[in-house]
Amino acid sequence: MMDMTSNVRPADLERITTVEQANAFIDEQVEIIRNQVGDGKVLLALSGGVDSSVVAALLIKAIGKQLVCVHVNHGLLRKGEPEQVIEVFKNQMDANLIYVDAVDRFLDKLAGVDDPETKRKIIGKEFIDVFAEEASKLEGVKFLGQGTIYPDILESNGVKAHHNVGGLPPELDFELVEPVKFLYKDEVRVVGKVLGLPDNMVYRQPFPGPGLGVRCVGAITRDRLEALREADAIVREEIGKLPETPWQYFCAIPDIQSTGIKYVDGVGQRYMGWAVVIRAVNTTDAVVVTVPEIPFETLCTMRDRIVKIPGVNRVLWDISEKPVATIEWE
Ligand code: XMP
Repeated sequence: MMDMTSNVRPADLERITTVEQANAFIDEQVEIIRNQVGDGKVLLALSGGVDSSVVAALLIKAIGKQLVCVHVNHGLLRKGEPEQVIEVFKNQMDANLIYVDAVDRFLDKLAGVDDPETKRKIIGKEFIDVFAEEASKLEGVKFLGQGTIYPDILESNGVKAHHNVGGLPPELDFELVEPVKFLYKDEVRVVGKVLGLPDNMVYRQPFPGPGLGVRCVGAITRDRLEALREADAIVREEIGKLPETPWQYFCAIPDIQSTGIKYVDGVGQRYMGWAVVIRAVNTTDAVVVTVPEIPFETLCTMRDRIVKIPGVNRVLWDISEKPVATIEWE
């Protein structure tokens, strides 16, 4: 049986690439989880990202309703994500899922804040506060499930990369359940697929913890955030149709306006609108990044759809490489 108290990947754990290997891993983890947890309850912050989703599916298989998932909608998720979490975990897997609509709370705290680091800190702190509040409403929870993966242990001492939050408050004194902590990302995806999670959850692009907050550049307003969410869905849909998709592709919306023109009863009227930026990048490590060609036809299709979004009158394509530019705009 795998020693889960260690932080070193067991030498005899083969790289998981096949269904058989994934099934063997799942069976072993189900037993380990049942031994650790007994009839206790496990709490899990379920963002809908690959790692937390796979941990949720594993825990549901192992302990069913003893798992309590908390999905915090902070208003900065991509289009359709909160709905998908509810559909997959509550409707299909019959999980014990607490859905917290914290949209107003986050957006009110972020109103008028334009400094990127301050925005990240507010989002991180608010997330911890909301989660801690939900945890304090529950009785008898001793365990906390976490989607720690092996690179988190190797690169940042067990803290999920980029989380920018200081961890849970000490009064939430949980024992951790981290069933995928020895796995690399590609292995987590194989396990997720075998556990029956949908492809668009398992093969998701990297998405920052602060979500669309780092792409709605400057002080976030609800209308500009909505425009970004719509544009992002269009870009993911259209670029997703290409035979080879880039490593990451999304939109940003800077806090600038430029002149547009619209015709009302044949009379041209000038107005100010936002510019949406399309960003698509290729990389293996997110450290050095190149920009792939996007067919002009695809760019035009995206443009034609994006300029129909209320408030948007311009579409730009970001061809900056990293270095000098980072992938995200903030
Ligand atoms: P940058 O912008 O630094 O991004 O070139 C490198 C990769 O990391 C992701 N990223 C983040 N992920 N929280 C995260 O969880 C963050 O604050 C964050 N910032 C950047 C980014 O999407 C890219 O894949």
